[in-house]
Amino acid sequence: MAAEKKIEEMIRAVAAKDIGSAGRYHALSAESRRKVLGALDKNGLKALTQLIKESKRKSFKVADKRILDIAKGDMATPVYLLDETLIEENMRIMQYVKDRTGCRMLHALKAYASFATFPMMRRYLEGVCASGLHEARLGSEEFKKEVHTFAAAYSGKEIGQILKRSDVIIFNSFHQLRQYGPIARARGVEIGLRVDPGHSEVAAEMYNPCGPNSRLGVVCNAFKEEFQAHREMVDGLHFHAMCEQNSDVLERILRSFEKLYGQYIRRLKWVNFGGGHHITRDDYDLERLIRLINAFKKRYGVQVYLEPGEASVLNAGVLISTVLDIVKNNMEIAIMDASAEAHMPDVLLMPYRPHVMGSAPAGRKRYTYRLAGPSCLAGDVVGDYSFDKPLKRGDRLIFADMALYSIVKNTTFNGINLPDIAVIREGGKIEAVRRFGYRDYRNRQS
Ligand SMILES: Cc1ncc(COP(=O)(O)O)c(C=O)c1O
Repeated sequence: MAAEKKIEEMIRAVAAKDIGSAGRYHALSAESRRKVLGALDKNGLKALTQLIKESKRKSFKVADKRILDIAKGDMATPVYLLDETLIEENMRIMQYVKDRTGCRMLHALKAYASFATFPMMRRYLEGVCASGLHEARLGSEEFKKEVHTFAAAYSGKEIGQILKRSDVIIFNSFHQLRQYGPIARARGVEIGLRVDPGHSEVAAEMYNPCGPNSRLGVVCNAFKEEFQAHREMVDGLHFHAMCEQNSDVLERILRSFEKLYGQYIRRLKWVNFGGGHHITRDDYDLERLIRLINAFKKRYGVQVYLEPGEASVLNAGVLISTVLDIVKNNMEIAIMDASAEAHMPDVLLMPYRPHVMGSAPAGRKRYTYRLAGPSCLAGDVVGDYSFDKPLKRGDRLIFADMALYSIVKNTTFNGINLPDIAVIREGGKIEAVRRFGYRDYRNRQS
């Protein structure tokens, strides 16, 4: 079908609020998507956003059944099962934000670094953000697009290798900028400076990058004192102040950031709004994000980068475990082959309660169990959950939303084996991409 005809049909489908228009939009070329967006008025754009979100929500719902069916099979556990089609659904949302704003989108490797899905992700994103040498190397070798590196401090031992692997390096102090900036310049690496935007709304101090006495980002007073002298060396400013938040929080952060740093922005090439944007969550206000980015770009004439991590793989992977034993001590305790401590560390650190498919809070359904790991740690407990039927040894339990900050953070505490990693590819084929064993444990000891 001729491109013009596809565009006309697309516009009609949006006007008719046809949910199929989301799929059609994603299938268009970049040029045709631009034409569609140019032809839609404000209400048409809002309608398209809703249709795209609705279509994504539907795909995730269908996937739940797929995962339940797979878990019933004979797959070895524990296993992180990543659904590539769902990650792609998330990528499409990011693509849409890019289409509407012209911003550049990086994936934060710290949240998810399973390179088995990078060939798909790289079609949608500009590159990755890295936290140091190894992530920068993984980004350059496996993602093979832009690498933007930020670390709270760089060591002389690693800086050369980091610069070799990075397109952009972001410093956390004027001292490090003076120390390594000239080498970065000489090597053609762009330079950024992380600043404290002066506002954040993260309740848990552990996850608040801008809390009292935070080491992350130059504070405004220091910036004002020193920036002038280093201006020529700085291409962009970076801030990161959010955690699993919506665009209303970004709006308030930008208000503060612009008040503090607005006068310095126009001469820069870019501003990086960091991560923590839950862009792919169902209730995320995409229209507001789009409005904020467009207004910012217009006001200052700079490029905007976003570097979400969680949002890339939100709800797109599970951890499947098997009940090994059930013991009693005032209540029934199911001991699984997956460990909270070793395989889902944020459950204990944050702490939070992951959803287990088919379960309800303790006491809500007929049979309540404490779900616990196999390690020696008394607190290796995911939580108390209830089920319609009694649990049996050999039953499978599926922990939802486990692609993010789990595989990258797991450990071999107690010598417990790491879960396998498997990917559900387009078309439903399951590929076991990694199996771990004794050597992985041994290699990390002396
Ligand atoms: C500098 C920076 N960028 C990006 C991210 C990614 O954040 P998220 O995974 O919450 O989107 C983080 C998370 O800690 C970060 O520290």
